[in-house]
Amino acid sequence: MAIKHFLQVSDFTLDEFEYVIERTRIIKRKFKNYETYHPLLDRTLVMVFEKNSTRTRLSFEAGMQQLGGAAIYLNTRDSQLGRGEPVEDAAQVMSRMCDIIMVRTFGQDIIDRFAKHSRVPVINGLTNEHHPCQVLADVFTYIEHRGSIKGKTVAWIGDANNMLYSWLQAAQVFGFHVNVSTPKGYEIDQSLVTPGNSNFTVFANPSDACVGADLVTTDVWTSMGYEEENAARLKAFDGWIVDGAKMQRANADALFMHCLPAHRGEEVAAEVIDGPQSVVWDEAENRLHVQKALLEYLVLGKLN
Ligand code: CP
Ligand code: NVA
Repeated sequence: MAIKHFLQVSDFTLDEFEYVIERTRIIKRKFKNYETYHPLLDRTLVMVFEKNSTRTRLSFEAGMQQLGGAAIYLNTRDSQLGRGEPVEDAAQVMSRMCDIIMVRTFGQDIIDRFAKHSRVPVINGLTNEHHPCQVLADVFTYIEHRGSIKGKTVAWIGDANNMLYSWLQAAQVFGFHVNVSTPKGYEIDQSLVTPGNSNFTVFANPSDACVGADLVTTDVWTSMGYEEENAARLKAFDGWIVDGAKMQRANADALFMHCLPAHRGEEVAAEVIDGPQSVVWDEAENRLHVQKALLEYLVLGKLN
């Protein structure tokens, strides 16, 4: 039977997401009640990081321990990946020694090749093109605060990056709409949009994209791997800050999300990220809970 991976949001059906979300609720409740739950006793997660991380490492490592298993951290500096070992060989070796693998890397092609040669499920912990675990946590956070996300409007204010492509895929699966406003030169790459995805509209003006939104979200102006573009991006993104004026254009009960880390005064004003509509700390915490449900599902399948 084909191994189930989570490399993009589109790898899961709505039914699978609904299952994982239901499991997340149960697993989160157990955690809050200090209830021991060890479905992955003696199982091992290997985490491969080719980019920096705080939340992703912490949530996967803590999550695996809380499920009764162990997590091993590898990075490019200390492993042979940094010395040119082919990704296919690394996948063969690593997947013979553990039960599940999380990879944070650059191009999506790298994780796709890794998964192809892995004997165990592979989870995308962020690539240049996708960040599916974060969007899963964000959708869960929205549902926790406001109920179903079906039919709602999400405003994306920022460049077309990994977070946006995962939001666009989630819109298609969950049935919501994304109002997208990207600065000139940082627009959507149509080759990264799933054919037939009509769940988004592009706006030239970021304030217009916020009108009628149930959720406004943004991200760093310079994603990891694009550091040399930083100065040009600062110029091009002028006007794309999510501030109080933009939030005013959204629905009165709109939420604000940011996957973090954030830069106050650049992509988001302090009044917004530290204000009453912001749910950024819940988003960060929910990485732990959704990923525990994801690990459980990918290793054990659906529990009866
Ligand atoms: N949001 C997120 O993935 O954070 P880290 O880069 O700290 O893992
Ligand atoms: N778009 C950002 C997300 C960081 C969690 C990046 O790729 O750096």
